[in-house]
Amino acid sequence: EKGGYDHFMIKEIMEQDEAIRSTLLGRVDRGRVRLDELEALQEELKNAERIYITACGTAYHAGMVGAYLLRHVAGLDVEIEVASEFRYAKHHWRENSVGLVISQSGETADTLQALRMMKADGIPVIAVVNVVGSSVYREADASLLTQAGPEIAVASTKAYSTQLVVLYLFALYMAKLKGLLTQEEEQNILEDLWSIPEKVKQVLSNAESVRRIAQDTYKANDIFFIGRQLDYMLALEGSLKLKEISYIHSEAFPAGELKHGPLALVTADTPTLAILMQEDVLEKTLSNVSEVKARQGDVFVLGFERDRKRLEDIGRWSFFVPDTLPLLAPLVGIPVLQLFAYYNAVLRGTDVDKPRNLAKSVTVE
Ligand code: M6R
Repeated sequence: EKGGYDHFMIKEIMEQDEAIRSTLLGRVDRGRVRLDELEALQEELKNAERIYITACGTAYHAGMVGAYLLRHVAGLDVEIEVASEFRYAKHHWRENSVGLVISQSGETADTLQALRMMKADGIPVIAVVNVVGSSVYREADASLLTQAGPEIAVASTKAYSTQLVVLYLFALYMAKLKGLLTQEEEQNILEDLWSIPEKVKQVLSNAESVRRIAQDTYKANDIFFIGRQLDYMLALEGSLKLKEISYIHSEAFPAGELKHGPLALVTADTPTLAILMQEDVLEKTLSNVSEVKARQGDVFVLGFERDRKRLEDIGRWSFFVPDTLPLLAPLVGIPVLQLFAYYNAVLRGTDVDKPRNLAKSVTVE
């Protein structure tokens, strides 16, 4: 049932190119996005001024990428909060608001309650969900399915990457409704999106080099992740994955925050994984990398192939992924971080598929 793999998690990591392809299938038609599921909400979406995003854990991290996309591509005002906070917060709902909840299982108690709260207040809610027939799927006004297939390992992997795919499509869809996207821009992004399965496959075929890096890091007590903008959002997910299954203490920081406190933690014993994929802020993050190196901290650089020359001598370790638009970086970057978490955990001998204290579906508050 594990298809020859040692764990469900690695099987699910390796399935991601196919899961992404299935999620794209039928949703791109002659260079244009197509989300038939949203037809009934056309008016609400056209008039939407603010999007409220909520979710838990990994799905929340996907939501953060979604928020970035909706702001940058679709020009929307977005509020985002983890569901366990969102549901108890005081909201001053704006007119023309739309809710967006994200959940692999569709049964997470806090996410479901947040959905119910928005609906009770008259806000239409769209769900990005993996399980057909789940509570979130049934109760949302419209559901955009991720075609990840069953995810068994507690650590979410292919659900995250397919949630991202749906969020890219949704952001493009909204940008079009708002008249903010030319046909050419849409085609460019979609073309790149279609090349992602192949590129993810290339990254996965290089798993062995990630394992070798983990051999140097698995004994660490703390590992930090830094990045800016989309790279920071990706860092959050990489860090959660690592702590969840390897039990190595890990935190993700926006690179610019380092000198506001976290830098005090950096020593020769704390490796830092620096994500350097957002061209606009790359130089800024590089200066933070120098701050880490000045404290003798070892650095693992994750970047694009096109920047290899520029970045390869910066860190003690590096991994370069196939080039894409910077906007799509999380899709090609995430497999590296998942593999990194996986191999650190395997080398430490933890129960990878069923980490201590955690459940696959959190149906209690
Ligand atoms: O089923 P959901 O997507 O609603 O689950 C949300 C979180 O519980 C889940 O992503 C959790 O954080 C994972 N164990 C992370 O790998």
